[in-house]
Amino acid sequence: MILESDKISHNQQVSLLEIQKAGVQLFIKREDELHPVISGNKYRKLVYNIEEAKRQGKTTLLTFGGAYSNHLVATAGAGKLAGFSTIGVVRGNELKNNVKAQSENPTLSACLDYGMEFEFVTREDYRKKKENAFIQRLKDKFGDFYLVPEGGTNEWAIKGCEKILTEEDTIYDVICTAVGTGGTISGIINSSKPHQKVIGFPALKGDFLRKEIEKYTISDNWSLNLDYNFGGYAKVSQKLITFINRFKKETNIPLDPVYTGKMLYGVVDMIKRGVFPKGTKILAIHTGGLQGIEGMNSVLRNKGKELIVI
Ligand SMILES: Cc1ncc(COP(=O)(O)O)c(C=O)c1O
Repeated sequence: MILESDKISHNQQVSLLEIQKAGVQLFIKREDELHPVISGNKYRKLVYNIEEAKRQGKTTLLTFGGAYSNHLVATAGAGKLAGFSTIGVVRGNELKNNVKAQSENPTLSACLDYGMEFEFVTREDYRKKKENAFIQRLKDKFGDFYLVPEGGTNEWAIKGCEKILTEEDTIYDVICTAVGTGGTISGIINSSKPHQKVIGFPALKGDFLRKEIEKYTISDNWSLNLDYNFGGYAKVSQKLITFINRFKKETNIPLDPVYTGKMLYGVVDMIKRGVFPKGTKILAIHTGGLQGIEGMNSVLRNKGKELIVI
């Protein structure tokens, strides 16, 4: 195995004043430290997909993502490590033929460093990413490939995400995670115990996720908290940036602005509001995504806003 499916990350306790006051305990599972490039849930999602691609004798991985996608970089990095060529189908064709702009985008430039080839498509075409005719067009252009879906979520990814929780984690009452496509939380739900509650914090608006998660899970010990998406995918506010910077300063744990920052803002806010009874042990999963900070900082810099401290 190129990536190890049984890799274990450690749980780090954080003791912000408001957490102590509420009489609960909060631990962060440092999945962000699994690998410098293929970090957090991306590592979990790619382990078995890479194995499967090898088993099928494929030599190329093709996947989809936006110009700041954590998944795109992780696939490029994992592909390079495992000896695959990689193709990234990128949402939006503004950067097509603009090599300078591509190299100024930290996400795309990292992908290029790992040898990824890009196919920039219009937003309209991007929406066709699950249609056979669209996939066939990509095959006609690039030849045969192993398709890793957007966000990396498929059955193999869920199997990988089932390894996030270990037997030692049965001591926690509540497990919290950020949610994008729903794959990560599905794996966590499948390996959680009946006495545990799993709470997902979607980083984007929309209630379609519930159905997606139900497709992959059978237990009902989970819920989604839709109150902390900060207006939608990749939207941030000063309050969120202030929280992320304070969290880093007081705990030395960096958070990304798209997923883990919003999730932890939500967890700490729920703690402050007394949602969890005294004595509750909470485990929040750090799903990585830190490569996204640089891209967000370039947006914040252009707007003259406070930057996220790395
Ligand atoms: C850092 C990070 N955390 C959480 C998620 C959400 O994972 P999922 O799409 O499996 O719900 C993603 C991406 O999708 C991510 O990049």
